[in-house]
Amino acid sequence: MIRLGVNIDHVATVRQVRGEPYPDPVQAAVLCELGGADNITCHLREDRRHIQDRDVHALKDSIKIPLNFEMAATEEMIRIAQQVMPHAVTLVPEKREERTTEGGLDVVGHAKELKPKIARLKDSGILVSLFIEPDDRAIEASAALGADAVEFHTGTWCHEMAATRLTRQQVELTGRLTHASVLAHRLGLQSHFGHGLNYTNAMWLQHVDHAEEANIGHAIVARAIFTGLKEAVMTMKELLNDPRHRP
Ligand code: PXP
Repeated sequence: MIRLGVNIDHVATVRQVRGEPYPDPVQAAVLCELGGADNITCHLREDRRHIQDRDVHALKDSIKIPLNFEMAATEEMIRIAQQVMPHAVTLVPEKREERTTEGGLDVVGHAKELKPKIARLKDSGILVSLFIEPDDRAIEASAALGADAVEFHTGTWCHEMAATRLTRQQVELTGRLTHASVLAHRLGLQSHFGHGLNYTNAMWLQHVDHAEEANIGHAIVARAIFTGLKEAVMTMKELLNDPRHRP
């Protein structure tokens, strides 16, 4: 079964644009849980553009499913993670000017700084996932850094899948994710996937060996405007696991 992690950042985005106390990401997380979400992800950005510090604490206290805390590998965020004690941390690159997380972490170039930070998080009892491109060197470096999981950045894959209507080409493109996932599995890493996944492409993850988790935000929150959050989550969970939805 592919687990579904729901990223509720954009519920907070809607709240922050008007400075009102609603909609509440905690209420959203509870509905996601009722819809069958396996975990909840939130990203506390350095600029606090959506999720706020209090949200992270409130989420941890309110939800029964695991919390995946997405963060940059900074001292400030490590301190917050050690206070909140989420189930897992996903380390992501962060640029102030970007609209969303635009690429994977440079785990090869930053191995020296990342290694002790990952060790500290793990020593605190938090699982560590690294958001990387589906690239052999990045996967090998992640294993050497002692990560528990890698989350493959699926942004490029999603764009390429949308740009072709040829099933043969879509199968080939998905083969690249399988290659990455098989290598990660061989090196003892769990394979997670995220970024740009939606109701027209997520079902393809059923073709990827060892795909364990999909982390999806924008598409689910967008659909929830029309269907409600619980139903949007239920539909995605079904798409990810029901062989009838296999392309
Ligand atoms: N996973 C990670 C590590 C991310 O940074 C994001 C984007 O915030 C997501 C998953 C979710 O991406 P999307 O909102 O495109 O579903």
